[in-house]
Amino acid sequence: MSLPLNVVILGAGKGTRMYSEQPKVLHKLAGKPLLQHTLDSSGLLNPHKTIVVYGYGGNAVPEAINNPDYIWVQQSEQLGTGHALMQTVSALDSEGITLVLYGDVPLTQVNTLKTLVAIAGENRLGLLTIELANADGYGRIVRNKNGGVLRIVEHKDANEQERSICEINTGIMAIPTKHLLNWLKNLSNNNAQKEYYLTDIIEMAVNDNVEVVTSHPDHEWEILGINSKVQLAQVERLYQTQIAHTLLAQGVTLMDPARIDVRGDLVCGKEVLIDVNCIFEGKVQLGDGVVVGAHCVIRNSTVAAGTRLEPFTILDQCETGLNNKIGPFSRIRPGTQLKEDVHVGNFVEIKNSQVDSGSKINHLSYVGDSTVGKRVNVGAGTITCNYDGANKHRTIIEDDVFIGSDTQLVAPVTVSKGATIGAGSTITRDTPEGELSLSRSKQVTVTGWKRPVKKAKQ
Ligand code: UD1
Ligand code: CA
Repeated sequence: MSLPLNVVILGAGKGTRMYSEQPKVLHKLAGKPLLQHTLDSSGLLNPHKTIVVYGYGGNAVPEAINNPDYIWVQQSEQLGTGHALMQTVSALDSEGITLVLYGDVPLTQVNTLKTLVAIAGENRLGLLTIELANADGYGRIVRNKNGGVLRIVEHKDANEQERSICEINTGIMAIPTKHLLNWLKNLSNNNAQKEYYLTDIIEMAVNDNVEVVTSHPDHEWEILGINSKVQLAQVERLYQTQIAHTLLAQGVTLMDPARIDVRGDLVCGKEVLIDVNCIFEGKVQLGDGVVVGAHCVIRNSTVAAGTRLEPFTILDQCETGLNNKIGPFSRIRPGTQLKEDVHVGNFVEIKNSQVDSGSKINHLSYVGDSTVGKRVNVGAGTITCNYDGANKHRTIIEDDVFIGSDTQLVAPVTVSKGATIGAGSTITRDTPEGELSLSRSKQVTVTGWKRPVKKAKQ
């Protein structure tokens, strides 16, 4: 029977080298707070409890994450990693395993954590270590001549010989909780940094005949911590490269895997092609054969099969139907649904509207709070005047309507089936089915009129 798992995530630190008022663990990687990455990956272990130690920034961290499933423990003064664990004592299940993670180490893979937890037991402590070419700053793993772990020595407390050890403490460990509770009582801060070091429990474990077993991540980037904006940017690139490679492996064509940003979940069908510099935010689905042109931004949207997004198109919380052609330079805003074979062209903004199949809005238009029927042609420069300064009103454009260029439709208004609106009209009343309606003053010619000429300078 496996022991109940408690995850403790340490995230009280300020992150001085970020030069930011925001607590470090709230800085975003791929659009998501660093801490959320650790919460999401450890969540896949189905822990019995997840406890987060927060400190710097007060309630900013629990408020930003805003999830009552986690136990939030405040460490008002950051007196070391051991001191952070002491704050969690009353929340821990004493008969279980405590997995310690850092809120600023976002890329540790679930399998790495699973392996580590699996080697821990009632009398076994799992320690995640790795050999680094440059181990500066890290705690070093001191082993006996048979290879058994003896203790961890922090860089600042280490002598020259200890500093030459390449095997480092990643900080991630799976600890039998019953022992941990005893060891925490005995920690002291009698060291170079005057901190309560969690790492001191390793020597206590050895003394108590608790076996210390090490495991190792498959990749060095799994244990990278973020202490500065430079490291944040580096880890962001690493993360994006991984996403790009996953997409490529699934058969998505990326014109340049180094120039895509996915800040959320991007799900692609078959034969999808994505050109350079596109940003995907939140949940985005691209159907089979979708082509995304360069420089598109797509947020929480679904793009149905066969649709082509030309460059510089923005989709935000909307759905496109099959075989749409959208862009370049189109902006489709929240609450919009486009049915199949819809064309939306350059400098067209659509908001909170339904556009039925076969309709075209190809140039320089604003369609807001509107219902557009099938096979409608909306001429260049058409504006739905949906806002009277206080309230929004709907525009209904029924099937087979033709709207001439430069028309204003003042909502609430309905253009009935098959109607035609003459170019340059301001339509303020409903227009009848199948008829031509227009509102325009008659064209006149003033014969003999002369253009003004520039007066000579005096
Ligand atoms: C720690 C380890 C070191 C290891 C390294 C890996 C100790 C004593 N040392 O060192 O062996 O090689 O991590 O990166 O554990 N934190 C709190 N409260 C505190 C202090 C820290 O929540 O009072 C959190 C920080 O926000 C951070 C994590 O614990 O997320 C690690 O703290 P940090 O100060 O970076 O530890 P290091 O000195 O780097
Ligand atoms: Ca650190």
